[in-house]
Amino acid sequence: MKGIILAGGTGTRLHPATLVVNKQLLPVYDKPMIYYPLSALMLAGIREILIISSPEYLPHYRILFGDGSALGLQIAYAQQPRPEGLPQAFTIGRDWIAGEPVALVLGDNIFFGNGLGPMLRRAVGRVQAGEGATIFSYRVDDPERYGVIAFDSDARAVSIEEKPERPRSNHAITGLYVFDADVCDHAAALIPSDRGELEITDLARRYMEAGALHVEPMGRGFAWLDTGTHDSLLEAAEFVRTIQHRQGIQIACLEEIAYLQGFITRDMAEARGKALVKTAYGRAILTAIEDAPAPLPFGERRAGDRRRG
Ligand code: DAU
Repeated sequence: MKGIILAGGTGTRLHPATLVVNKQLLPVYDKPMIYYPLSALMLAGIREILIISSPEYLPHYRILFGDGSALGLQIAYAQQPRPEGLPQAFTIGRDWIAGEPVALVLGDNIFFGNGLGPMLRRAVGRVQAGEGATIFSYRVDDPERYGVIAFDSDARAVSIEEKPERPRSNHAITGLYVFDADVCDHAAALIPSDRGELEITDLARRYMEAGALHVEPMGRGFAWLDTGTHDSLLEAAEFVRTIQHRQGIQIACLEEIAYLQGFITRDMAEARGKALVKTAYGRAILTAIEDAPAPLPFGERRAGDRRRG
């Protein structure tokens, strides 16, 4: 399973903050926004990752992550010249995807919750076993701002619409999608919507109509945060700060996750923790090393496993 982070766009709703900085590089409290969706892919066990952004911002991501090896990942980069829709991830990334199943996460989506890792790994397992696609729904008060999915009385998905004026349910579709290897062909067959973009909801609908869409509800135990406006960005930062202070943990500490997932060695994690020791982020890496037994290679488990997620 491979993973794509779509981190382009113009960020017009966040101007002037995003006039010269890509939105997904803005801090959400104490770390760049892209750390959060990247942490979701890592918790899903995905190590081969493609970051897609606009040509002017890709060099920044390369500085931030390099080839990914410091996190035990293989990170590649690709340009999206213009933001013409989320499914472009699969036409731009087609050669890199090379016929494998692939997860897509939007660079501005933040997920947090107990059991997130196992839930994502189950979705990956389903798709790898040939089950089509998995999307994640989340109950919201303002569904008209999102892709919206509605269900019949047997809880079967019956409609998927992008930002409907009159939503048929309160179930928004989050910006995390797990697709089988057919996704590139489906994406290539899409046509732009009335607003001139390829729509991810049209892609998901193709799977739904083929009876190949699994919808996983993210329930009360999960937070799905949106960073689309100045207010929601600040609220997301406040959420992260509150949880981190109250519980003394870090959300989306990439080196901690990489260590606990067995992607990097203890020495690699320790070196990074020491380099960042003046921050709570760096100290969390060192604490993880002290608290956790040496991780097993990814996929192996021991009784009473302490891995996060
Ligand atoms: O956040 C979940 C929602 O994301 C879903 O419910 C919607 O179905 C989906 O269309 C999307 O809606 P948004 O209005 O949030 O999409 P937006 O255009 O703001 O783009 C989301 C992120 O993807 C943003 O960080 C910019 C990036 N992006 C967007 C487009 C259209 C790209 O990198 N390239 C693009 O072409």
